[in-house]
Amino acid sequence: MKKTVSFLVSGRGSNFHAVAEAIIKGEIPATVGIVISDKPGVKALDIARELSIPAFFVNPKEYPTRQDHEKAMADLLKKYHTDLVVTAGYMRLLTPYFVNEFKNRIINIHPALLPSFPGTHAQKQALDYGVKISGCTTHFIDEGTDSGPIILQKAVPVYDDDTEDTLSARILKEEHQILIESVKLFCQDKLKVNGRKVLIVR
Ligand code: GRF
Repeated sequence: MKKTVSFLVSGRGSNFHAVAEAIIKGEIPATVGIVISDKPGVKALDIARELSIPAFFVNPKEYPTRQDHEKAMADLLKKYHTDLVVTAGYMRLLTPYFVNEFKNRIINIHPALLPSFPGTHAQKQALDYGVKISGCTTHFIDEGTDSGPIILQKAVPVYDDDTEDTLSARILKEEHQILIESVKLFCQDKLKVNGRKVLIVR
């Protein structure tokens, strides 16, 4: 039985686009579920509509608490039989409520080699620190910020003349690749979470 993969987004949606295309082309054995944005009018929602993927804006301001907002998203995700949630540039922290609803079934992409540079502006953090190598990480989401068990990582060089934009672009290419690969492994039942470690069953 194919798994259904849905997405939480907040903006541009290039990671969502890359994974959705890989599913549509049959490179990942899965079905695309839905896309939910916490921001209106973002490019990710346009891409979803172009691909005929059900797309929703769930406005956090319409709910009294974060958990109420997440409950509305969780209800929608379940209505569409979501097995895996991919947070692809979703810029809001998830509460333990949502994390538990989809325990070890939420994959995030982060633009740094975790545990270095968690949180926002990871590429700028890496540049400001002066590291020579940065990269990206996919991980399952736990209750912390970018702290869950790591699935895949890819390193990229940092050059002396890099700006936040040039480094971000170099990392983004690799983000798409490791996110596609991570979702594929999940959908093939090849990821086993054992404490902090994710074992890849080959
Ligand atoms: C990516 O760099 C992702 O790692 C970070 O936010 C950015 C989102 O880009 N969390 P996009 O919306 O997938 O194009």
